[in-house]
Order: sequence, then C-alpha cells, then structure tokens
Amino acid sequence: MDTGVILWTAAALLALVVAIGLAWRCAALPCPSWLIPLLENPYFEAVAGAERLLGRAGIGPGMQVLDAGCGPGRLTLPAADRVGPAGAVVALDIQPRMLAELERRRKRLGAGNVETIQAGLGEGRLPSARFDRAFLVAVLGEVPDRPAALREIRRSLKPGGILSITEVLPDPHYQRLSKLRSLAGRVGFREVGVFRGLLAYTANFERADGPAEPPDPNLRS
Ligand SMILES: C[S@@+](CC[C@H](N)C(=O)[O-])C[C@H]1O[C@@H](n2cnc3c(N)ncnc32)[C@H](O)[C@@H]1O
Repeated sequence: MDTGVILWTAAALLALVVAIGLAWRCAALPCPSWLIPLLENPYFEAVAGAERLLGRAGIGPGMQVLDAGCGPGRLTLPAADRVGPAGAVVALDIQPRMLAELERRRKRLGAGNVETIQAGLGEGRLPSARFDRAFLVAVLGEVPDRPAALREIRRSLKPGGILSITEVLPDPHYQRLSKLRSLAGRVGFREVGVFRGLLAYTANFERADGPAEPPDPNLRS
C-alpha cells in the first residue's frame, strides 16, 4: 500500500481516538466494565500499583477503609488483606457489573471483611464518621458532581481520617493536581502529603476540623 495512504489512515485513527477521549472526558461517564483489562495491565501496576497506593495511605491492621469507585477490586482486595479480620473495606461503585466482578474475586479469595455498596458518589449512601482511610483512584473525573462526592467522602471519614486520591495519565478523565487542591480545600480537606511521578500522582488530604466550605470571607453577614 502507498505510504501516504498508511500515514493518512494512522493520522485519522489517532484523531478518532483523541476525539473519543475528549468526548468521554466531557461527558464524565463511568469507565465501562468491558474496559477492566485496560485497568489491570502492567503499565497501571507500574505507576499506580495497589501495594504502592496502600503504602502511601498507611493502610494497616484493624483499619476501616473506603474504596470509592472500586471497579473490579484492584485495590479493594489487597486492602482487605492488609486490614485483616479486625478491619473492613467498604467498596462503592455505581456500576453493578464492577461489583459483580469484585464479588466473584472476593469469594474466590474467601475475604470476609469486604462490604459493597452500589451507588453513585454524592448520593448520600455512605455511613457517617466510619472510615480511617478513603481511596479515590482514577475515579474523580468520571463523577459528574465532584464537590458533592468529596463532601460525602469527608462526612464518611472519622475526624483526622485521610482521603488518598490518585490520578493516572493518560486517563481521559485525569484531574490536574492544582484543580484537585482547590476543590479539596473548598470542601474541608487539608493537604497532608503528595507523591509525584511523571505519569501519576497521589495526594493525601485530611478531614479538617470545622464545617465543609467555610463561609466566603468576602460576604458580610
Ligand atoms: C477507571 S475505574 C477505576 C477503578 C479502581 N479505582 C482502580 O483503580 O482500579 C473508575 C471506576 O469508578 C466508577 N465510577 C464512576 N463514576 C462513579 C460515580 N459517580 N460513583 C461511584 N463510582 C463511580 C466506575 O464505575 C469505575 O468502576
């Protein structure tokens, strides 16, 4: 085949992939379950592997952990192993198929300390003041109402509890750290640590005391 035709076809395919990625990003749609194999690949493992993320959040025995937007349980099941029988992991996801796959894996491993909730973040289904740690890994950009999602997670944490957010490139829903900091600060989180890599970062936020979204100082009462 003519080299020009090959180059034009490759450019058209690339443009199509970029266009689909941008449309998907704008629509804030959840990652479909048939993309699970794309989530669990050596690249994702290298830049945002479960054991590394659990270590960054300081997960240990006896902890109560929330895995929000858990997908098929890439992080949930290793977390359940770390917290042990004295702890528990609550895995929340909006998609029943993700939770069905998690449940299949959970049974195979015999993990008895995992609970699941099928709900969208921000719908108010999480318990109050239960968790020592919460994870949001490659999820936030898929959530349509991000302030509501972070407010709900904040409410579900114990005072002093930590929310650990990881964003990975080239996820079409990737959230920049500067944007995340501003949003987290507005809903009542205090940054306590950042782990930066070339292709991914983790930012840890503590549930700060006081009300979420303190009143705007420019507004007079
Ligand atoms: C890219 S996957 C990441 C899965 C997992 N956190 C991981 O790192 O392997 C994003 C997950 O977030 C879930 N999700 C998207 N929007 C959500 C929402 N509004 N509420 C709860 N879960 C949501 C999707 O169903 C999907 O399972």
